[in-house]
Amino acid sequence: MKKKERDEKFAAHMPGVLQYHRLMLGDAVRNRLLAKAIKQVVNEETSFLDIGAGSGIWAILAAKLGAKRVVAVEIEEALIPFIYKHAQENGVANKIEIIHGRSDDVKIKGKFDVIVSELFGGDAMGAETIKSFIDLRTRFLAADGVLMPHRLISFAAPVHLRSDDVPATLDFGTDFLRSVQLNYPINLTAVEKNRAQYLGEPVPLVDIDFRNIDTPPPLANLTASWKLEDLSKVNAIATFNRHYFTEKIQMDSRKSQSWGVGIYPFEPFAVKKGELSLSLTIDAKQGNWTVAVPSNPEIRPQSYSPVFAFTRVRMSQQMTPHRKFKSPTTKK
Ligand SMILES: C[S@@+](CC[C@H](N)C(=O)[O-])C[C@H]1O[C@@H](n2cnc3c(N)ncnc32)[C@H](O)[C@@H]1O
Repeated sequence: MKKKERDEKFAAHMPGVLQYHRLMLGDAVRNRLLAKAIKQVVNEETSFLDIGAGSGIWAILAAKLGAKRVVAVEIEEALIPFIYKHAQENGVANKIEIIHGRSDDVKIKGKFDVIVSELFGGDAMGAETIKSFIDLRTRFLAADGVLMPHRLISFAAPVHLRSDDVPATLDFGTDFLRSVQLNYPINLTAVEKNRAQYLGEPVPLVDIDFRNIDTPPPLANLTASWKLEDLSKVNAIATFNRHYFTEKIQMDSRKSQSWGVGIYPFEPFAVKKGELSLSLTIDAKQGNWTVAVPSNPEIRPQSYSPVFAFTRVRMSQQMTPHRKFKSPTTKK
């Protein structure tokens, strides 16, 4: 990549990076729990690896606790200067080795007593993320070393999602747009989380213990079901994670301000009392979900996927009478 292209990429990433880290640094729940967990295990004897170091706060905390070796790995180039400047501000710049690269690619000598990795981002259950976690445990964790988080349980629960639509001021139908939108999962941010009213008990979908898995668990056709008094209010399934920083220090992603809650929307069923069942495939590209009411077999199940939405929009585009102009600068 040429310097100009690199600069453009760097500049394009800056606003998103700053926004994301404003959220993470302001996440009092995550910060309190993770800092407490790190303080319990780091001392002058510890070698500490922070994978997905972000703004560098956990590497800096470990260095301030006196860890004998601290390495911070971050894939995002725009964050590298922030790690260094923050370390400098906190008097530990000479104690942290900063590596720019993807965890799966980097080579680091030695093993580490403590590895903290929040490389999950919004995609905690992504197959690639899980593979990276297994890789970093296998290559970098010392025997009897501590991994944070070491376990992740993903839950599903039926919810009523309060609409965020702007009150209609125009008397227009927009059902096509809405029906397409239903096929895309939504990530509720902290400020939006109170839009979801929980109407059933959370059911575990996947339970991953990173200390002993060697291959990512299957993430297709995960199932759950709920017996509900009023099914007609449910218009989405929410998914969220429990992160185990230690056995006792756990974080529910519904309570943290930077970790989102996944929402899989659907059209409510016109049924009061009954059983709602879910089958969910978690996959960034081919994900899909089906909801059904097994207690009322006459009601047709509903299936959603971005793949269906794409096909519908593509077909509609081809059938839409329109004129098209090519820009002279557009390459073939
Ligand atoms: C959820 S943030 C955590 C940030 C950091 N712990 C903090 O509090 O500032 C995840 C970070 O991991 C980085 N990341 C994601 N995948 C990575 C990988 N495979 N290798 C290295 N860094 C990665 C992202 O760029 C992001 O900065």
